[in-house]
Amino acid sequence: MRTLSTEQMYQIIVDKTDQLPSLPSIVYELLALVNDSMASLKAYEDLISRDPSLALQVLKMANSAFYGVPGETDSIQKAITYLGTEKIYQIAITATVFENLEADDSRFFRIREFWQHSFVTALCSEQLALELNFENRSSAFLSGLLHDVGKIVFQIFNSESWNQICAYAQQQETSVFDAENNLNALKHTEIGYRVCQKWNFPKEVLLAIRHHHDYDKDFSSHYSADQVKLIDIVSLANILSHTLNIGHSGYNIRTEVPLEIVERQNISRKRWVDFLMRLRDQLEASESVMASLLEN
Ligand SMILES: [Fe+2]
Ligand SMILES: [Fe+2]
Repeated sequence: MRTLSTEQMYQIIVDKTDQLPSLPSIVYELLALVNDSMASLKAYEDLISRDPSLALQVLKMANSAFYGVPGETDSIQKAITYLGTEKIYQIAITATVFENLEADDSRFFRIREFWQHSFVTALCSEQLALELNFENRSSAFLSGLLHDVGKIVFQIFNSESWNQICAYAQQQETSVFDAENNLNALKHTEIGYRVCQKWNFPKEVLLAIRHHHDYDKDFSSHYSADQVKLIDIVSLANILSHTLNIGHSGYNIRTEVPLEIVERQNISRKRWVDFLMRLRDQLEASESVMASLLEN
């Protein structure tokens, strides 16, 4: 029997994503809006109102304890005015991605907890972007939201192998990334990178997805300083998300902040501890967002 090369195996799983409904054009329209500093509140309102089911999800999230628009509004316009375009972008992109990438739960991997992990990583990425002066915060949010998207593709199209990886990670008390390495399996980082490349996401987002576990690699001669910074931001945000223990992404160990990133981004211990405390307070109500999306 002919054995397939790793490259062929990646190609097979990426080709299978043709079976998924394509991401709605609203994702790309939102990306264009958030990157247009001249875009008006009305442009966001028109875009979101065009899709009644998205509008409903946006309102549910906006009314959750985390975003907390006062007075339980049923008006997209009011939600946008109160929250501002950056937060409305976060809400709309999260609701769209969440709605369009559905999968069944398995013994080791529950989708709701997975999206919770992804959403918290997105919020941590955005806050780290602020802290580390990375200008494109919406890009940081999107990279955090999608950093583990390869896992959901794995779960949908190769659940047997994915279950094996999660079982190994949980039994051996290691990370999914280490489990993938030890089992010589395909990697969720590479699957996520290739799938998002097919979906035409911006290059810096693709790189952050591909390398969010490669702490020890120095990419400075391959990528721009901003691209390296975004990789570090998403790597740290993922670690933070595990430290805060909100959501679940196939394993539950906590990792120390890698020294390589500390040095590259010049983060002192005190600065990190202060940041962590602030973030913990800020994210306390974040679970209400997923709860609001899943309520009937
Ligand atoms: Fe990951
Ligand atoms: Fe993760």
